[in-house]
Amino acid sequence: RIYRIASIPGDGIGVDITNAAEQVLHKLSSASGSTFEFAFHTFDWSSRNYLERGWYMPPDGIEQLKRFDAIYFGAVGWPDPDVPDHISLWSLILPIRKHLSQYVNVRPTRILPGTTSPLSNCPPSSLDWVIIRENSEGEYSGQGGISHEDTPYATATEVSIFTQVGIERIMRFAFETAKSRPRKKLTMVTKSNAQRHGMVLWDKVFYQVAEEYPEIEIDKMLVDAMTVRMVLNPKSLDTIVATNLHADILSDLAAALSGSIGIAPSSNLDPTRQNPSMFEPIHGSAPDIAGKGVANPVGAFWSAAEMVRWLGEEKAADGLMKAVENVTANGIKTKDLGGDRNTQEVTDAVCAELESV
Ligand code: NAI
Ligand code: MG
Repeated sequence: RIYRIASIPGDGIGVDITNAAEQVLHKLSSASGSTFEFAFHTFDWSSRNYLERGWYMPPDGIEQLKRFDAIYFGAVGWPDPDVPDHISLWSLILPIRKHLSQYVNVRPTRILPGTTSPLSNCPPSSLDWVIIRENSEGEYSGQGGISHEDTPYATATEVSIFTQVGIERIMRFAFETAKSRPRKKLTMVTKSNAQRHGMVLWDKVFYQVAEEYPEIEIDKMLVDAMTVRMVLNPKSLDTIVATNLHADILSDLAAALSGSIGIAPSSNLDPTRQNPSMFEPIHGSAPDIAGKGVANPVGAFWSAAEMVRWLGEEKAADGLMKAVENVTANGIKTKDLGGDRNTQEVTDAVCAELESV
């Protein structure tokens, strides 16, 4: 069977790591015993495209994406005064998530073999989390505006939207995730002491849904205190559910605590499977290292493995993760993980492992 993958490399290291992921996925599909292959179609919806032609995604971009089995995304954003970051994010990644109903963003974090946490006293067994990020509403609803712009009275609003339907579906996904994991533990993150409407509804729906899952151990954390707990007591956490903004921030922290932002994957899922889901490392386009060939491709490989899993190829997904873990265990790592290898060397090593696992 052939899986049709829409590939959107985007900007900066998004291009390098998407290329690395495609190499590894081709290798995976040509391994002995494989019953599938990938057909990639690349879309150049980059900031360069925007600067040259005035658009990231054409008007029928979402319709084009709907024809694929999955979407693989690199990163978008480029330091150019003519493309502010809010334009690039709102022209590409945020509309894709919203229009394809990818209302869940799953962000696992673990310490991979051969890598270490910057936390002292944090063996790999002490940090194994899945952050479930609400991906369709909340603080990134895009509602608000600015009045009296460019005057001393400039006033802006940034309105968060929380709905019963939106909260309930993310909570249910989070409880199901917690249920599928050995520790059966779910921590809900909120800021309902200071934000008294949306966050209060968020809490309320959490406790409503919790009644359907008596076997899950639950607790509630204010987001500020949560950062402290992640650093000082990582072992006390397992599955975490948080809003669009809170989980965005906490997952970068989680990635850093597990070794590097360069290893962390994410899955933007439409759990109803009516639309294709999208897989991308959580990092951005890293302009500081772009074009140098040194980006860590591990987050891209892990995201690719999650894509393969979502497509139903569990065994192949496990094989890919095993290959990645063998490579990190052998010390073949990029600089952000304390190694001295470049993107292509790590990619070649994973491809070589795929021949043997
Ligand atoms: P970033 O994640 O691009 O970089 C932060 C730091 O981590 C940099 O020092 C970078 O070199 C390092 N880093 C990131 N990925 C790495 C990797 N794979 N290997 C080694 N080092 C890595 O975040 P930043 O600098 O805040 O944003 C840069 C641009 O990316 C901005 O335009 C931003 O809007 C955009 N962005 C896009 C995202 C997306 O497309 N989903 C997500 C986050 C940021
Ligand atoms: Mg982020």
